[in-house]
Amino acid sequence: MEQTSKLRLGILGSGKGSNMAAIADACAVAGYPAEIAVVVSDVPGAGILDKARERGIRAEVLPPGRFRTKLDDAAERAYIGALQEARVDLVVLAGFMRILKGDFLLAYPERVINIHPSLLPSFPGLEAWRQALDYGVKVTGCTVHLVDQGVDTGPILAQATVRILEDDTAESLHERIQQAERVLYPQTIESLARGTLKVAGRKSRIIAR
Ligand code: GAR
Repeated sequence: MEQTSKLRLGILGSGKGSNMAAIADACAVAGYPAEIAVVVSDVPGAGILDKARERGIRAEVLPPGRFRTKLDDAAERAYIGALQEARVDLVVLAGFMRILKGDFLLAYPERVINIHPSLLPSFPGLEAWRQALDYGVKVTGCTVHLVDQGVDTGPILAQATVRILEDDTAESLHERIQQAERVLYPQTIESLARGTLKVAGRKSRIIAR
């Protein structure tokens, strides 16, 4: 049966928001099966907030609490509350630089996805494009995956490759990876909504709740 209601996305980001903007542009195309319900950032003044508001998308800052790399318990409850209030079906991490823990993932089981700037499982963690360049690989890329409790470890949903050029710098390589991300992320969300994606051998589909 064809899905009728659009998937409601809750996008979390800490940075400039180029992935969010690409997803918003895709959502603006007639027939795209998702819409952005809310954007939440842990960083006041992050570019993602302006880019969302310019497009008429609700955008909120929620303080992360007392830790540097994760949300504390109260912050986690506030994030879940904001996403539930916006009736989010799928949580989309777009440069959200904090690890999500068990309670958050229990609130959205198999409904949290992330984009990472390498071909996982190679180069998890920070500045993955720089890690790839320093290692000397000839091809890298980006990965969309389901989020689990590890760092960049959940089941892989989609990947795109980016060739490393002789004269690449960290900056030039990062820019080409981000160009690939801006194509891959909206496509992957569309495939998830339409149920045309295989995850570890089984078809995966996220249905609006
Ligand atoms: C993206 O390149 C994304 O892959 C990366 O943050 C950037 C956010 O850019 N995420 C990670 O490194 C997560 N491990 P954006 O704010 O312009 O979308």
